[in-house]
Amino acid sequence: MVQPSARRIALAALRRWREEKRFADSIISGLLAKADLTYPDRAFALQLFYGVLRNLTLLDFWIGCLRSSQVEHSLRDLLRLGLYQLFFLETAQHAAVYETVELASRRQRAVTNAVLRTAARQREDLLRRAVAQPLSVRASHPQFLVARWQQRFGGKNAEELCRWNNLPPSIYGRINRLKISSKEFLQLYPEAKPVARNSDLVEFDALPAPKAFGALNRGHCYIQDPSTVIACQVLEPKPSEKILDACAAPGGKTAYIALRMKNKGTIVACDRDAERLAILKDNMVRLGIDIVRSVRHDWTRGRIPEEIASVAPFDRILVDAPCSNTGVMRRRVDVRWRFRPGDLTRMPDEQFQITRCAVSLLKPGGVLVYSTCSLETEENEQVVTRMLDQFPQMRLSRQEFCLPFRDHFDGAFAARLVNPD
Ligand SMILES: C[S@@+](CC[C@H](N)C(=O)[O-])C[C@H]1O[C@@H](n2cnc3c(N)ncnc32)[C@H](O)[C@@H]1O
Repeated sequence: MVQPSARRIALAALRRWREEKRFADSIISGLLAKADLTYPDRAFALQLFYGVLRNLTLLDFWIGCLRSSQVEHSLRDLLRLGLYQLFFLETAQHAAVYETVELASRRQRAVTNAVLRTAARQREDLLRRAVAQPLSVRASHPQFLVARWQQRFGGKNAEELCRWNNLPPSIYGRINRLKISSKEFLQLYPEAKPVARNSDLVEFDALPAPKAFGALNRGHCYIQDPSTVIACQVLEPKPSEKILDACAAPGGKTAYIALRMKNKGTIVACDRDAERLAILKDNMVRLGIDIVRSVRHDWTRGRIPEEIASVAPFDRILVDAPCSNTGVMRRRVDVRWRFRPGDLTRMPDEQFQITRCAVSLLKPGGVLVYSTCSLETEENEQVVTRMLDQFPQMRLSRQEFCLPFRDHFDGAFAARLVNPD
């Protein structure tokens, strides 16, 4: 039997991703769960798989430079993997070529060897040709997205955004002060580095490093990008209030809201996805939060369930809407390849529908925060404008953006709408 190795797992993941059109995270975590790899090998498999997905267009550009004839899919996967090691990793050239050829079928060995050796020989020329390509090729992003961002943010920021999306994401944890103080946390987990702008947040070098893993299991922290706390800050939840978290799973924001409420009051955490709600429930138990009632509900279908209606009206409502995720492309590596221009019509309609439904549950004087991790106006300001058109009595009192190229965290948007008394 062929032993699993990081490279073999990465290749299998690339093939499945191409053939099955499933989420990249689910494919690689499924394969890793079945493989008996050491921690560094798991990390290497992830680096290879995500690295290839991040640089797909550029790797294919080079394949086109190196081979004029048609390249079948399975050979392309191999060449992408080999070229990624040659051009993006510190892997020694002979190892990158040898190990990739080892993964090839007998039929593909000679051509894999020849293409990768030529690539190594022509390295400087291939790099020079890459620099001359448009941003969508150089930085491997769909042309329509690059064009949107260039128009909206300017050429320099669009370039910086694409560069940011291609970096491996930093790993941040939010200290769960319901269980441990920031000071104790930093003493217990000295590998965690404080984040300058927010004393609730720390940065880890890597996960799952054994100690950081311990911090998660004991509910001492929750893995969460600093941008995700903005919506909760804009919501300003207070102890003893009644809060509706309309799109809550897996519960990162629910948990932070509960912390700000000092675990006093009521949070109704709603989501349409049963599996994700189960994760939310586990998360609340681990984090020691007991004010959350989870309810499964799809805001676009049927009547509002009794478990929600009976708690209404709410002091505050968070609608952390499903979105295109263009602000978190650094973490959700395959988002750029799944995204279609039509999503920017479909998603805003759904976002508006969910928010409109939630508003009916807000008390007079109550606050509704609409948030996304999208950078696109259609999903952010335009949804808010539509809400204000439909509910002219509501007032927009605050709007926050987190832009990766400016703020150096994931992208996020939050708007605070206030109901009149
Ligand atoms: C951005 S995620 C929420 C993340 C969550 N707030 C957190 O901080 O962990 C959006 C969530 O909305 C849920 N969702 C999507 N459409 C929905 C709908 N029509 N009704 C209820 N939930 C929905 C998805 O299942 C997903 O869990």
